Amino acid sequence: MPMEVASASALYNDHVNPQWVKLLDVLGMNVPYTRCCGSELFLQDGNRVLDFLSGYCVHNVGHNHPSVVAALKDELDRSGPAMLQSHVPEAAGELASRLCKLAGGQLSKVFFASSGSESVEGAIKFARAHTGRTGLLYTEGAFHGLTCGALSLMGNPFWREGFGPMLPEAEQIPFEDAQSLEAKLSSRQFAAFIVEPIQAEGGIRIPQREYLQTAQQLCKKYGTLFVLDEVQTGMFRTGAFLAAHHYDLDPDIIVLAKALSGGLIPVGAVLMSNEVYKSVYSSLKRAIVHTSTYSENGLAMRAGLATLEVLETERLGARATAMGNELRRRLRETLFGYEMVKDIRGIGLLSGIEFQAPSKIGLRVPFEAFQRIHPGLFGQMVVMRMFRDERILTQICGNNFMVLKAAPPLIVEETRIDQFVGALGRVVELIHSSSTFWSDALALARRALNI
Ligand SMILES: Cc1ncc(COP(=O)(O)O)c(C=O)c1O
Repeated sequence: MPMEVASASALYNDHVNPQWVKLLDVLGMNVPYTRCCGSELFLQDGNRVLDFLSGYCVHNVGHNHPSVVAALKDELDRSGPAMLQSHVPEAAGELASRLCKLAGGQLSKVFFASSGSESVEGAIKFARAHTGRTGLLYTEGAFHGLTCGALSLMGNPFWREGFGPMLPEAEQIPFEDAQSLEAKLSSRQFAAFIVEPIQAEGGIRIPQREYLQTAQQLCKKYGTLFVLDEVQTGMFRTGAFLAAHHYDLDPDIIVLAKALSGGLIPVGAVLMSNEVYKSVYSSLKRAIVHTSTYSENGLAMRAGLATLEVLETERLGARATAMGNELRRRLRETLFGYEMVKDIRGIGLLSGIEFQAPSKIGLRVPFEAFQRIHPGLFGQMVVMRMFRDERILTQICGNNFMVLKAAPPLIVEETRIDQFVGALGRVVELIHSSSTFWSDALALARRALNI
């Protein structure tokens, strides 16, 4: 018998993360889910929630896609070697070959991992081994993961505070600033420049083509590896298989994770050139010098193959482009003109709605009160309203609290786009026209924070 939801939740509260439970309670988002399917999440009380978050770009093929589920069941039923650590896992070869073909350029080898962070760690080690240098360059606003190496590539103190010193050789430069990049690279001390081609948690920041092209050239000129973190932007999220393809880039290393296994099994992948690979696995003696227990495990590899099959046969890249363009067109039509809406931008099905501080006194006073309590409060209240009033799951960007992210599964139907736009339109109207939005939220924040 499955444990009753309430008691299972109490166990989570007691033994996993009570603060997370409290936060969800405060936001009215602590609801029991019974089933997730496509872009819909079914609740115990019979209601449904529309998913416009996709687990931060994990569920590109939709929740529990039947083909991925079937592939996993098959793999379990055949009782094959899941993780012998003493054989050649054939599915890993198959998946690596398909990934390299889709990625193109010089990428011909893959190291598999079990998360985005672990893949970033791998990329750091491969870049250091290849160049014989230790320095790492990253950009302001970046999100690369929360393990120590990956966290060393993130400047936001929110994520770092209390965890002691990070890698000392990691340096931050502004995003989309080729001059700063060259000034650093010219020291020839940097193994890698690690950058998201489009910053997701940074606020859906889409750089000019010239910036990334120049960055690639500069890296080549100064002997630094050009590493693209496509953990959120890869797997057709932006329309193309990789965001790099929009910019005609040929990076030395690509990092993938999240959507690669259909949202069902942890996975990560570091795609690299043969030259980079050879600097790590350089001899028989070093055949296992960088490994990880669950790397190449049968379930993750099968899920990856099935996910690629779905993404390609259902042409979800083209769908992401068409639906994303339609979403932003309708959002602009509905939201432009509201003084707190600053920008609507995106590519494929990765969109951001950026809010700004209001100038009208009636809005400015409560907004400033929100800011004093917490800079993320305004955005979180928008998320809360979208969830509680409209039954739509969204989030604000982790490194830019004024940007609401809209990233539904790529299978999202057009009627769902309408539903999202209508819902956000109503929430934005409430923000601008009623004191309820502000007073309710202030009361709630004060209760939660005991102020
Ligand atoms: C761009 C990017 N890189 C790396 C990571 C880390 O991935 P993971 O959470 O799987 O470790 C994330 C996670 O959100 C991410 O967005």
